[in-house]
Amino acid sequence: MQDGRTTLSKFLINTLDRKSSPIAASGLSALLIDVAASIKTISAALTRGALGGNYGSAETVNTHGEEQKKLDIATNDIFLQHCEWDGLLAGMVSEEMDEVYAIPDTWPRGEYLLAFDPLDGSSNIDINGVVGSIFSVLRVTGEPHDAGVSDAAFLRPGHEQVAAGYAIYGPSTMLVLSVGNGTHGFTLERDVGNFVLTHSDIRIPEDSCEFAINASNERFWEPPVRRYVQECKDGRSGCRTRDFNMRWIASMVAEVHRILMRGGVFMYPRDFKTPAMEGRLRLLYEASPMSFLVEQAGGLAITGRERILDVVPRALHQRVPVILGSKNEVARIGRYHSEYDRGADKPYTSPLFNERSLFLPEAPA
Ligand code: AHG
Ligand code: MN
Ligand code: MN
Repeated sequence: MQDGRTTLSKFLINTLDRKSSPIAASGLSALLIDVAASIKTISAALTRGALGGNYGSAETVNTHGEEQKKLDIATNDIFLQHCEWDGLLAGMVSEEMDEVYAIPDTWPRGEYLLAFDPLDGSSNIDINGVVGSIFSVLRVTGEPHDAGVSDAAFLRPGHEQVAAGYAIYGPSTMLVLSVGNGTHGFTLERDVGNFVLTHSDIRIPEDSCEFAINASNERFWEPPVRRYVQECKDGRSGCRTRDFNMRWIASMVAEVHRILMRGGVFMYPRDFKTPAMEGRLRLLYEASPMSFLVEQAGGLAITGRERILDVVPRALHQRVPVILGSKNEVARIGRYHSEYDRGADKPYTSPLFNERSLFLPEAPA
């Protein structure tokens, strides 16, 4: 007898296994159940906080040159343990591992690739702030995978993802997931251990008055980003003629979750702070899965100059500029980039016109 609620496994069976798609019989649901098991284990570990003995630095550095926290490593290990054994994966890539993780010979190999950020926003750990995990699933194309996979197998544009999702560890733990038929949110019922569908077919409002950006980098931004943020800050006395609100949580998961719930824009744009870096966020396991979820919810995700899901990765840990969220706002920021590249934005970005001025032509809607 049904209780009227949809658990994650019921959702996956109905969405994937009972459909006659090629993915149906291939074990994607089983893989996602294993990913969900990782998330439940991480959630339990995080809930113990400082009592779990996992706070502080591991005194090691990851491939990005960032200091690893003990929990970065512990959560990475949790993903590996829960997902390596099931015979569904050909390899894994993580923010916390330099190279592709080959499935040990003890286990059979499958046809999926899992890329993940086991702990996003880890600077929030010590302040008991919101953190998350992000994951992306691709299917191996071309090369034989029974002997494992090389980097090249992972270097596929984000529109080829067969599933993407994140977990947010806040006052409640949620799993937000897309297998290509919309973006859906599940809340962890802790005492039972089930993920229950609570947010079906999430839609991002097309317009918004909220933006998120690390404003301490302002002096390194490109003119189109300065132009947009300045207009937001000008509020109702500027060309947007309405007030905007600003948020910065320093966890992409928390920002994207807020945008899925009530709209807004999140930006970690190209900047000139570290000229060699193309952006702050990593394409394979941050930008790509989040862009998939955002697009599946009716939003847009761009680098400023192209759709993130069309970027073909050149390296496992490649970074990319990210601008995502409410459709009309992101489209406006994209237009500002193309106007800048064409030299057509001078009236809006010249220092003479920084303030609202009689000289400022009416901004296009
Ligand atoms: P991670 O903790 O996985 O390294 O990712 C943190 C990322 C992202 O989640 C967040 O938006 C951004 O870094 C925070 O950047 P600042 O340090 O500039 O606030
Ligand atoms: Mn991250
Ligand atoms: Mn991380």
